[in-house]
Amino acid sequence: MKNILITGGCGFIGSNFIRLALQKIPACNIINLDKLTYAGNLQNLADIESDGRYKFVKGDVCNSSLVTKVFAEDCIDTVVHFAAESHVDRSIEGPAAFVQTNIIGTFTLLEAARKAWLVNKQSPPNQRFIHVSTDEVYGSLGETGYFTETTSYDPRSPYSASKASSDHLVNAYYHTYGLPTMITNCSNNYGPYHFPEKLIPLIISNAINGRDLPLYGDGSNVRDWLYVIDHCSAILAVLEGGRLGETYNVGGNSEKRNLEVVETVCDILDTTAPPLANGLPRRSLIRFVKDRPGHDQRYAIDAAKIRNELGWSPSVSFEDGIRRTIEWYLANPDWVQGVCDGSYQNYYKSMYGERLPAQSEVRA
Ligand code: NAD
Ligand code: TYD
Repeated sequence: MKNILITGGCGFIGSNFIRLALQKIPACNIINLDKLTYAGNLQNLADIESDGRYKFVKGDVCNSSLVTKVFAEDCIDTVVHFAAESHVDRSIEGPAAFVQTNIIGTFTLLEAARKAWLVNKQSPPNQRFIHVSTDEVYGSLGETGYFTETTSYDPRSPYSASKASSDHLVNAYYHTYGLPTMITNCSNNYGPYHFPEKLIPLIISNAINGRDLPLYGDGSNVRDWLYVIDHCSAILAVLEGGRLGETYNVGGNSEKRNLEVVETVCDILDTTAPPLANGLPRRSLIRFVKDRPGHDQRYAIDAAKIRNELGWSPSVSFEDGIRRTIEWYLANPDWVQGVCDGSYQNYYKSMYGERLPAQSEVRA
């Protein structure tokens, strides 16, 4: 039986990961530690919250005494660390929360794992600490080339700098203390439960509702898109077969310019959603707006290592994944509405009242 601590499990990728892990690892307990920031949504897990193997703990990864208590009470042997401030634009406007959660939070978890697992240096062989990171730590590419696991770090935004810092701490704990760590550096994800501040869910939500579609600069920036379930299956593959101390790059082999992504969303919605009130095609909503400061031009991943070592490769093409994603947003207008008007944050109150739930109370 694995006792898996998932941090940030109420966010976009974490919630998809918890659902997949419960399916793929029958003998597991999952403890989801999440602070429920604006990006954390308990409704993302409404369908699995009564699974007896799942427990939610509301709390901050920077809270050392809470994290230590969770390790002890739940006999944690596996950590999959998602919790982070994750949006580049927010990191430009207010970097402090990124330094706090992404760096201090990761440090706090590493310390708790070290103290729980490495006392007397008798670490059982099945313990694992997986740190979920981003390809943005490698900086920006020109027209050609790919990020590999040996590409030098060159982060440009406060977000990517904070993630780079956390990656270095994780590697330091492996080399210095022998903590059984692994890192995944993944490209841009998209799919269900994605908070509509990031490009794809924002564009889908705005295009459904006939609102402007803001494209930064000239829309020529390139991202390598990966369907979220493929990212989750890559993390499971690393958990099962990855080598300790190693980094695995994860990518979708699916580079697109932002303009192309937005036009694709528009064209699919023109055939699957009710037409705009003015009868115009949705491409008419595209607006080129002021560019993001320090906007990285291109990200592209060489995922040969995880493919060759662990047999992982993406299973969902961009064309298929973007259709599935649009279908999900069309089928879940209440989720989109709740996130847009803030009412999703009432779900916690309705489930648990105002006070923080004691751990014994929330075990289903
Ligand atoms: P998200 O913003 O959707 O979710 C983050 C979650 O972490 C939320 O549930 C939030 O409540 C929680 N959280 C934030 N601060 C916390 C704290 N101090 N203590 C406890 N919980 C806290 O993020 P996401 O898009 O799901 O990304 C998850 C991870 O994957 C992040 O580490 C991110 O850097 C990494 N990543 C994301 C992408 C992507 O495209 N979204 C790509 C590669 C890597
Ligand atoms: P985003 O989803 O914020 O992810 P990241 O910055 O981590 O790659 O942005 C993806 C790309 O889309 C990036 O090049 C910035 C661009 N973008 C826009 O053009 N308009 C928008 O409204 C947003 C949110 C992003």
